[in-house]
Amino acid sequence: MKITILTICPDAFDSLFTLPVISRALDQDLVSIQVVDIKEYAPGSFRHIDDSPFGGGPGMVMRCQPILDALDAVSTDGSLSVALTPAGGVYSQEMAHEFSELDHLVLICGHYEGFDARILKHVDREVSIGDYILTGGETAAMVLIDSIVRLVPGVLRHESTEEESFEDGLLEYPQYTQPADYNGDKVPDVLLSGDHEKIRLWRREQALKLTRERRPDLFDQFVLTEEDKKLLENN
Ligand code: ADE
Repeated sequence: MKITILTICPDAFDSLFTLPVISRALDQDLVSIQVVDIKEYAPGSFRHIDDSPFGGGPGMVMRCQPILDALDAVSTDGSLSVALTPAGGVYSQEMAHEFSELDHLVLICGHYEGFDARILKHVDREVSIGDYILTGGETAAMVLIDSIVRLVPGVLRHESTEEESFEDGLLEYPQYTQPADYNGDKVPDVLLSGDHEKIRLWRREQALKLTRERRPDLFDQFVLTEEDKKLLENN
């Protein structure tokens, strides 16, 4: 898979490449990441990438020409372009799966007060990472890349992503490791029992309860099995 990032802050991505899973995916050629400086597509020594909004108002708006020329230059047959903007659809694990199956994803990072609206007509998707305003799309692009790269087949070695939070619509059950007793705070007995069926049921119950308590929005959409209903009735 190839990911191209269009940005006016190419150096912002340096630390991304040091993250263990990302750097391993790059080293093993499972993923390639191309960082393209939008300023390279702005003519003249002034590198004019933004301007004040028509109609007045605060801040600056990113101009059409540099971004659309850059997008034209990097796009390939079948590539999908995604603009990072707070006005986009809210990012989810489902989108991470969808994007991880692409051959080529182009991420476009906005800055200032946003994109000239005409840019967005040339973009396949608009994505927000949540209801808050970042100073630019770069950190949002890193969130997407981190969550996508780990889903690319072969990137995670032994780990399974199937039991993680959001994968089946529930938050993940709590996990414990050594020591079994940390200053009097003990690991639940069932996890030391060696009884795999009991452990499976306990984990399911924990995941259901945690989701009901912390994310009623997810829980309301979740379709309970008969076993789930019994687990919840027990308490
Ligand atoms: N740019 C600024 N805020 C953003 C957000 N919440 N998500 C994506 N891109 C953004």
